[in-house]
Amino acid sequence: MGDIIVFGGDGYIGWPLSLELANSFPNKEILIVDNFLTRRNSAKVGGKSLSPICSMEERLAAFREVTGQTNLSFRELDCANSDQVMALFAEFKPEVVYHLAHQRTAPYSMLGVKEAVETITNNEAGFLNVIWGMKEHAPDCHLVKLGSFGAYAKPGLDIPEGNAKISLNGKESAVPVPFPRASDDFYHITKINDGNFAGLACRKWNLKISDVMQSTVFGAATERTLQDDRLCTRFDYDEIFGTVVNRFVTQAIAGVPMTVYGSGTQTSGIMVLEDCIEILKSLAYNPGAAGQHRIVNNCPGKYSINELAEVVQSEAEVLGLQASVCRDKYNPRFEDGTAYDYAVETKYIDSVLTPTELNSAVAQGLGFLLQFKCEIDIPSIEPTHTW
Ligand SMILES: NC(=O)c1ccc[n+]([C@@H]2O[C@H](COP(=O)([O-])OP(=O)(O)OC[C@H]3O[C@@H](n4cnc5c(N)ncnc54)[C@H](O)[C@@H]3O)[C@@H](O)[C@H]2O)c1
Repeated sequence: MGDIIVFGGDGYIGWPLSLELANSFPNKEILIVDNFLTRRNSAKVGGKSLSPICSMEERLAAFREVTGQTNLSFRELDCANSDQVMALFAEFKPEVVYHLAHQRTAPYSMLGVKEAVETITNNEAGFLNVIWGMKEHAPDCHLVKLGSFGAYAKPGLDIPEGNAKISLNGKESAVPVPFPRASDDFYHITKINDGNFAGLACRKWNLKISDVMQSTVFGAATERTLQDDRLCTRFDYDEIFGTVVNRFVTQAIAGVPMTVYGSGTQTSGIMVLEDCIEILKSLAYNPGAAGQHRIVNNCPGKYSINELAEVVQSEAEVLGLQASVCRDKYNPRFEDGTAYDYAVETKYIDSVLTPTELNSAVAQGLGFLLQFKCEIDIPSIEPTHTW
């Protein structure tokens, strides 16, 4: 049991991904592994998913009732525990592994020394355990890991999908090298380090790793999670766990101004949740060559923060909601707003995906989340932590 393991399968992306895999590969056993870190940390900072999320037992029971299938199961396990992860790989020898089990918020990683150390320890020990587990017990397995598009340096150069030859002072590198990474928070530094660990594991151990450079994901539901209320995925909107479009959508529903940080000219890659799941699923049995550290730029479009606010504003107005924008009041990350233009190579997703329009995902998200309007805790959205 456990042809496919999803580390982090209780999370925002991991849960709908697990549902999709179990539905699409009915003859494969899908094992979700999670230690509920996100549920605990979200509660610790006073956050709460706007969409009500069920316990794992209730989720799995709902999946069985809705589909009649029994190929989705769960094991509670801490990815950062080497003994547990090595024993799991020895037991299952999986064909495909998804690694999403990270402390995944930049603001959380900057809250204080404990949270910074927790982020580094959790994310880096967890990833090292997974690649050592593969090396020792499942060397032919395909690992699909979630990196972050936010880990790329953005000095105004076009971003390749994989290594590229670089030139400096008129001299070109003899061999392709990774595109530069840079980060202003400890969470994204764990993504940069993961990329280096993955490169080593491919070069030295001949492993098959697809490194998904994931842009910020937006979406409140997928076709699968909409099949039953108990299949909802989480939707965070507080200042620590909520990503930018989530916060805007929630503010529009609550009838308070959307808080654009700084001038709003800074850009962010955005991908619709359903599209993200589609790409991740498509990778399962479609690995790169053994020994190749394959990069997939999961970034179908980028927007300035002002443009994102405009998209939410226009879709909110269609629903009769009054959405206004508040600029320059908050700048918790001390962003200077300078954005250098760049193009992103996205050969893989261009070959398999017709991206969903962001407007339609925002309209769907607003429509779906309106029913939870009275649950919104408005003060939790306002930024109170800076770094
Ligand atoms: N959501 C986004 O916009 C986005 C953007 C870029 C990259 N990513 C990456 O995608 C992945 C999934 O993100 P998400 O938004 O679903 O986050 P999430 O926090 O909702 O999900 C992560 C899951 O991993 C689990 N987890 C964390 N540490 C663990 C450990 N030590 N052992 C077992 N389980 C553990 C958490 O409990 C949680 O269920 C992460 O790696 C994240 O960095 C997400």
